[in-house]
Amino acid sequence: MNETVKSESPRPGPEPRLVRQMFADIAHRYDFLNHFLSLSVDRYWRRQAVRVIAGRSPTPADVCLDLCSGTGDLALEVHRMLKLSVVGSDFCHPMLIRSNVKIRDAGLASSIRLAEVDALDLPFRDSSFKFVTIAFGLRNLERLDRGLSEMVRVLEPGGSLVILEFSRPVIPIIRELFSLYFSYVLPRLGALISGKKDPYQYLPSSVRRFPAQKELSSLMTAAGFEEVGYRNLTAGIAALHWGVKRRSEM
Ligand SMILES: C[S@@+](CC[C@H](N)C(=O)[O-])C[C@H]1O[C@@H](n2cnc3c(N)ncnc32)[C@H](O)[C@@H]1O
Repeated sequence: MNETVKSESPRPGPEPRLVRQMFADIAHRYDFLNHFLSLSVDRYWRRQAVRVIAGRSPTPADVCLDLCSGTGDLALEVHRMLKLSVVGSDFCHPMLIRSNVKIRDAGLASSIRLAEVDALDLPFRDSSFKFVTIAFGLRNLERLDRGLSEMVRVLEPGGSLVILEFSRPVIPIIRELFSLYFSYVLPRLGALISGKKDPYQYLPSSVRRFPAQKELSSLMTAAGFEEVGYRNLTAGIAALHWGVKRRSEM
């Protein structure tokens, strides 16, 4: 799992202004479509991400920064499963509004705070968080290397990053079936239900251009993480990646 491959300098990603607008356009249907299009497997994946943190003996004093937090599902899960304080951050106001409603409805406004910030230019001091999480967000960053270096910066030395992202299915038949579903079925269903065509065409293309498991691991190591590893979820349709900020960084 810790095997690394040589990585080229990362390709620039999508334009932030377009990404923000795209999520603003679908914020009202985002949760429904996430669960519907994944048959609710996304909930299981997020729980697996929280289990990685659980395995690192968090204490009640630890604070988790959930980047690209969107409508807050991972931030809520981190708090529900581990009782940690969470800062959920995103640069798309309509997504944060949805998150805020869910947090208030759950009576968790004092435990989960929200911040409207750009993941590539975080307003937090160095070494502010014991944990950083990001689910289905890294792929959307214009600069993956810049995103990872911001994550290193805001983590305490010895703190952990957990990434949940779509990845490369490792079983050929699943790869083929998933590719058909992702390229032909999902864009049509997504467009039909959300009333917006672009976001659900963007989704498969952004996954295709995102680094596969080993390449992302190499990028994490290059960014300053150690103990880097990953685990495939659902045959690699998604993957969990983790790494620890070097204790010698300070
Ligand atoms: C696919 S959603 C994921 C939301 C949530 N983490 C989840 O698990 O459902 C991606 C989110 O990343 C946010 N995002 C993309 N680029 C960002 C950036 N540079 N800074 C902050 N948020 C960003 C978008 O606004 C969107 O809410």
